[in-house]
Amino acid sequence: MYSLFLKIKKLLLLSVSMFIVCFLVGMKKISSKKVDLIKAHSTSFSPDSIPNLQNGLAKTPPMGWNSWNAFHTHINERQIKEVANAMVNDGMEAAGYKYLIIDDAWLGMHRNKKGRIIGNPKRFPDGIKALADYIHSKGLKFGIYESPGIKTCAGYPGSLHHEKEDAETFANWGVDYLKFDDCFKNRYRTNYMDRYVRMEKYLLATKRPIVLSIHTPSVNMRVPVNKRPWQWAPKIANMWRTTSDIQDNWNSVMQKLDQQVGLYKYAGPGHWNDPDMLEVGNGGMTTTEYKAHFSIWAILAAPLIAGTDLRHMSDQTKAILENKDVIAVDQDPAGIEGHKALDNGNQEVWVKPMQDGSETVLLLNRGPKRAFMTITAEQAGLKKATYYKMKNLWSHKYKRTDELIRGYVPSHGVAMYRVWPESN
Ligand code: GLA
Repeated sequence: MYSLFLKIKKLLLLSVSMFIVCFLVGMKKISSKKVDLIKAHSTSFSPDSIPNLQNGLAKTPPMGWNSWNAFHTHINERQIKEVANAMVNDGMEAAGYKYLIIDDAWLGMHRNKKGRIIGNPKRFPDGIKALADYIHSKGLKFGIYESPGIKTCAGYPGSLHHEKEDAETFANWGVDYLKFDDCFKNRYRTNYMDRYVRMEKYLLATKRPIVLSIHTPSVNMRVPVNKRPWQWAPKIANMWRTTSDIQDNWNSVMQKLDQQVGLYKYAGPGHWNDPDMLEVGNGGMTTTEYKAHFSIWAILAAPLIAGTDLRHMSDQTKAILENKDVIAVDQDPAGIEGHKALDNGNQEVWVKPMQDGSETVLLLNRGPKRAFMTITAEQAGLKKATYYKMKNLWSHKYKRTDELIRGYVPSHGVAMYRVWPESN
C-alpha cells in the first residue's frame, strides 16, 4: 500500500515538473517571437542618412487611371477590362496614360492558408494575375493598391507583417505600380515610416521595376515639420500624397492647390508631390473648372491619374484629359514643379520653368467674376528678350508680346501660356 502511495507521489511529481518545463519552454518561445517582432520593427529609419530613392522609375510624373474616383469599392474584372480597352481605344494610352491601377476592394477578405493575399474571388474570378496579363496585353502597365496597416481603408487585409510575401506576390503577378495607402495605422505601435521603408526594401529585392506611390499618416499637418512626407518620402518612394482625399468640387481643388505652396523644392525626376488623383469628368464641376483643375495639376508636375469612367467619357472630358500641350507641361523632362509667383487674393499666377528655357504661366481666377490679369515677363522668371512668343495651351494659338503676359480669365478658370524669349 505504502509503495503504491510512493509510486503515485513519484508520478505526480514527474507530471508537475514536466508541466513546469513545458510552460517555461512555451513562454520562452512566445517571448522570442515577441523579440523577433520588436527587432523587425525597431530598424528606425533616419531619412537624413540616405540619398533619394534611385529605382530608375517615374522620371516624369506617372500618368494613368485609377478606379477609386469613378467606382470606389464597386470594381470587378469585366469593368476593369473594359476600362483597359477604353484607355487604348479612346487615345488615353497614346496621350501618355500608361498605368491602369485597381484601388481598394480588389482583395479577398482573408489571406490564403500560406498567408498570401488573393484577389476577391467574386469580383475577380479569374484572379489578379490573369487581369494583369490582360492589361499588359493591351500595352498598358498594371498598378494595384495595398495598405501598410493591418487593413486597407475598406477593411481588406493590409500588409503589416506581410510586406515580404506581398512584395513577392505583386512581382509574381506582374505589378508595375503600388499605391501603398495609409490606413489602420494606430493598432500597432510600430514606427510608421519603417512600414513604408520595409515595403520598398522588399519591392526592390524582387528586382521588378515597381513604382511606389505612398500616402502617409502625416499629410494632415499634425506631425512635426521634419516628419511631413516630403521631408522623408523621396528617400523611399516615387510619389507621396501631400493632401487628404480630393472631392469632385471646386473648393476641394483650391484646398489641394493651397497645400502645395512651398513644396516645389521637394519634387524632381523620380520623386513627385501628389495632391491626389484627378476628378475631371466626374460631374461635380463645370468644364471651366475641370480645365483649371487639369492645368493646375500640370503646372504642379503632379502625377496625372485620371479617375473617371473612361467607358463613357464625353468629348469635353477627353479634350481636357488628352490636351497634349498641357500634358507636355506636366511631363517636361526638367521635372521642375511650378510655384506661385503672384497672389492678390482672388487671382494667382503660377509659373513653371521648362527645360527649353521657356516658362509656363498659369493665370488663375478664383473669384466670382471674370478678371483681366497681367504679369510681366520678368515676374514670370523669363530672361530679357526682344519679344516673347506665347502659346495659349487651351486654344493652341500663338501670339507675340513685348513684355506683358495678360488675358481675360473666367471665374473659377485659368489662362495657360507657354512663353519663349525671342531675340530677333
Ligand atoms: C484612401 C485614399 C483614397 C482611396 C481610399 C480607398 O482614402 O486616400 O485615394 O485609395 O483610401 O479605400
